[in-house]
Amino acid sequence: SSMTMSSNSGSGFITKMKSSSRNVVVFYGSQTGTGEEFSVRLAKEAQRYGLKGMVADPEENEMEDLSQLADIENSLAIFCVATYGEGDPTDNAQEFYDWLQDGNGDLSGVKYTVFGLGNKTYEHYNAMGKYLDKRLEELGGERIFELGLGDDDQNIEEDFVTWKDRFWPAVCEYYGLEATGDESNIRQYAVTEHTEDVPEKVFSGEVARLNAFKNQKPPYDAKNPYLSAITVNRELHQGGDRSCMHIEFDISGSRIRYESGDHVAVYPTNDPELVAAIGKILDADLDTVFTLTNVDEEASKKHPFPCPTSYQTAFSHYLDITSCPRANVLKEISEYATDPADKEKLLLMSSATPEGKKEYSDWVTKCHRNIVAILEDLPSVKVPLDHLCELLPRLHARYYSISSSPKVSPDRISITAVLIRYTTPTGRIGKGVATNWLKDKIPNGPETTPFRVPIYVRKSQFRLPFKTTTPVIMVGPGTGLAPFRGFIQERDFYRKDETKKVGDSILFFGCRKSTEDYIYKDELDEYLKNGTLTNVHVAFSRETEEKLYVQHLMKRCQKQIWGMLEKGSHIYVCGDARFMAPDVQRTIREIICQEGGKTQTEAEDYIKKMQSKGRYSCDVWS
Ligand code: FAD
Ligand code: 2AM
Repeated sequence: SSMTMSSNSGSGFITKMKSSSRNVVVFYGSQTGTGEEFSVRLAKEAQRYGLKGMVADPEENEMEDLSQLADIENSLAIFCVATYGEGDPTDNAQEFYDWLQDGNGDLSGVKYTVFGLGNKTYEHYNAMGKYLDKRLEELGGERIFELGLGDDDQNIEEDFVTWKDRFWPAVCEYYGLEATGDESNIRQYAVTEHTEDVPEKVFSGEVARLNAFKNQKPPYDAKNPYLSAITVNRELHQGGDRSCMHIEFDISGSRIRYESGDHVAVYPTNDPELVAAIGKILDADLDTVFTLTNVDEEASKKHPFPCPTSYQTAFSHYLDITSCPRANVLKEISEYATDPADKEKLLLMSSATPEGKKEYSDWVTKCHRNIVAILEDLPSVKVPLDHLCELLPRLHARYYSISSSPKVSPDRISITAVLIRYTTPTGRIGKGVATNWLKDKIPNGPETTPFRVPIYVRKSQFRLPFKTTTPVIMVGPGTGLAPFRGFIQERDFYRKDETKKVGDSILFFGCRKSTEDYIYKDELDEYLKNGTLTNVHVAFSRETEEKLYVQHLMKRCQKQIWGMLEKGSHIYVCGDARFMAPDVQRTIREIICQEGGKTQTEAEDYIKKMQSKGRYSCDVWS
């Protein structure tokens, strides 16, 4: 829908490259901003080798124009693409992906390289990067450097730097170039501080359109979220020291529609104490209103986030101040250290040497030091606020599996979220941004200023079977129960409709203790009683000497599961991506082997076939 700009309109990337004598274009497929950030760095680095780069969003360009790249001398297309969810492209690369799959493009003479961003805890590791690398070649493109793969579960920055440190020399060799020796850190954005009073033009946390929160207009989406009221926020745990919230967002009158299995995205706000700490550590006035403007006048992205805005707003709404800063950020801020020891430490941690990597891992990652902790612990590093704003990644929306069904509550979207809180080795309290922000938003609770939460619905592929008669097996320990609450509500709705027949629904749930975190127990009991749920199997992991998990209970029911699979049942897995989902998949494979008398390979094929038919779906996260 948005791939409407053609090169003829004068705004396409080819036109732009030609008019500003650029030869390198870096496309990104980015969901949380890392892919985009890497693209910006690559485009910037091109000038070290006498090349001129630009960044482009596939969603805003006619990707068919890629073929014309061959007409530009020394041209190169770099792709930094992330894989999202179950091996899917990111939202902004979806249409590009569809176009690649259609396969009508001719990319003869187009030189390219791909860096993929993925996460090894997921089954389809870097599927998009791997596909793109192969597909571009099939369409006639020429790979000038091998595919790079980054693992966000480990140290993706390190993977990226290792790859590009080999990539640039290969580019030089291929095109016969030499490094110009221009290694200086060039700022991408120039700051203007506004002294005059212009409050009505100042962004106050809007995602894209000025005053979008004061003047709400449907349709609502990622760029135009709906400010919803929280109508319910209650604790689901009965005991223990953790907290799980059941939250309901009011969407009445918003024209927002959703399906059970969809995700709701929440734009959170950073902890005001952390924001204030930045101002204090850097002796800066956060109320100053400023604009950061791209020094590259032709860049499609004029500002790193909506500007003008105040530093207070930028650190509260636009910037990620709680994750561990990447090594390149440490390098850039080292410039401001007045104490040589601070400077040396930052430079060491940002170097690619074994000692540097170890120090980064020990001091930053393991201690979970965010930018605030780093500035606190290296007090001579007085980074100017505007440079800090340029360096930090964007604060992104958090996704939650919707735990309600529109059949039952069309005007309310509910989520089931565990509060993230932990103590770091330096004794600081780590607080998850979104869950800690949501926790105090209790209707008629202690927070006195009226609160509204910016949300939008993101469609998913996680769907109940088309026919209500199809049996379903749901596996969702912990908050993995969330989407199944919606599924069950929906099956219950259909069961009450006398014209419809509803197939068996079996649930495997797991938690620590029957007295602590058995969430939605009363509801599940009721569905079991009224026949909506055929069976509920609950694994309490901390009530017996040996851990009891959902997959152990599945093994015990393996005859029933196999019988259901052979009858065309769908199977759904939701929750932890790292350990639970692969363990459950292994168990299903064992069941297929044992009950179906199949070999390991046959069982794997059986699962693959189920996946491709949409009969085996996962909604997992890490
Ligand atoms: P963040 O500020 O993002 O902090 C999380 C980070 O804190 C972690 O990445 C880790 O680095 C660190 N951390 C966390 N615990 C520790 C620890 N013990 N020690 C050290 N570091 C730690 N969540 C739900 O609760 N319910 C859902 O239904 C749900 N559905 C999801 C569906 C999808 C498709 C996806 C992608 C995610 C889903 N999530 C769900 C996760 C959710 O999006 C958030 O990631 C989660 O709520 C944490 O967000 P936060 O902003 O509170 O924490
Ligand atoms: P544990 O924390 O006692 O190890 C929800 O988080 C439930 O999932 C908890 O009971 C948790 O048990 C359990 N769990 C942890 N790892 C798991 C795994 N690999 N497979 C299935 N369940 C797991």
